[in-house]
Amino acid sequence: MTYILGIESSCDETAAAVVIDGKTIASNVIASQIDLHARYGGVFPEMASRAHVEAIGAVADQALADAGITVNKLDAIAVTRGPGLVGTLLVGINYAKGLALAAGVPLVGINHLEGHVYSLWLTQPFREVEFPVLVLIVSGGHTELLLMKDHGDYERLGSTLDDAAGEAFDKVGRLLNLPFPGGPHIEQAAQMGNAAAYDFPRALRDRSLNFSFSGLKTAVMREVTVPPSAEARRQRGAEKKSQLRADVSVNDVAASFQEALVEILVEKTARAAELHNVTEIFLSGGVSANQRLRHLMRKQTNLNVRYPPLNLCTDNAAMIAAAAYYRYRDELQAGTLATDYSMDVLPMWPLTAESQPSTG
Ligand code: KG4
Ligand code: ZN
Repeated sequence: MTYILGIESSCDETAAAVVIDGKTIASNVIASQIDLHARYGGVFPEMASRAHVEAIGAVADQALADAGITVNKLDAIAVTRGPGLVGTLLVGINYAKGLALAAGVPLVGINHLEGHVYSLWLTQPFREVEFPVLVLIVSGGHTELLLMKDHGDYERLGSTLDDAAGEAFDKVGRLLNLPFPGGPHIEQAAQMGNAAAYDFPRALRDRSLNFSFSGLKTAVMREVTVPPSAEARRQRGAEKKSQLRADVSVNDVAASFQEALVEILVEKTARAAELHNVTEIFLSGGVSANQRLRHLMRKQTNLNVRYPPLNLCTDNAAMIAAAAYYRYRDELQAGTLATDYSMDVLPMWPLTAESQPSTG
């Protein structure tokens, strides 16, 4: 059995987890900074880095303790190298290097997006995967439509040209004065709203497999908010609350916005599946928690739809450890497993076939 400790710190969750053979979660610890950033309506990078520094030791210790093991039992340590915030990534990678060096085990650098892909391998009961599959990663930082041909082999079919899907949820959440992060709150409000109340734009409805969500956010803003007067801006000051028009129903706006965003995700995924003759779609990332997305993806396409359990949709370290397993196994077999303790973070690392190897 292969024990891998995963460490994740690319954004606002400090996470560590132990995964056995890339499939079985032995422990999964997450210290969320949501409360810290909620006050500002978004992630504050400098504060996020400090919070990671404070939490990471205890989180990693807890992951080992929950799994009932010590570092000596580990076969490898996996850490998120990017993409993400440079300062927060550095906290994780440096901690992982120290631990790997002390334990005398290899260090495997993982792409955070590949981690989201492998959250699907942690779904119980595990069903074998027949490649190729389509993968739609929809999170706060990314919207990526990928063709996964094998373990570690990805072709990027489309991505967002501006805001990520989760970012759009968060920005519209802020416009509607809902708590941060907006996604789950918009979903909740949408359940009581009429999705046909507003006809918000569906951008790039052409042959392209790319996405654009910033126009959708602007359309919502124009439709529902009153532009603040100079006096109102001064008075509201740091609160930054938006003033909604009197006739606006938050539930209807939430439902109509969610429908526009989800519809375009489903439409493009269906088109990609047709173009590449694929029958299965893996949804991952925070927005894959959205029930309307799951439902419409099943209803409006002929695809088999797989998604992770709710606690693995958002950022966690189990997915990082799971992704590392296949890399570790293949490199061990090929005799190419090497650890470079000068491994740097890659804040803009794309997930493509040409992306750099894990251990370099
Ligand atoms: O994957 P994740 O935890 O972090 C990133 O890697 O970015 O995703 C967080 C994002 C946030 O934008 C949040 O609003 C969104 O996922 N989200 C949702 C839902 N739950 C979380 N969006 C729509 N519906 C949800 N139920
Ligand atoms: Zn993520």
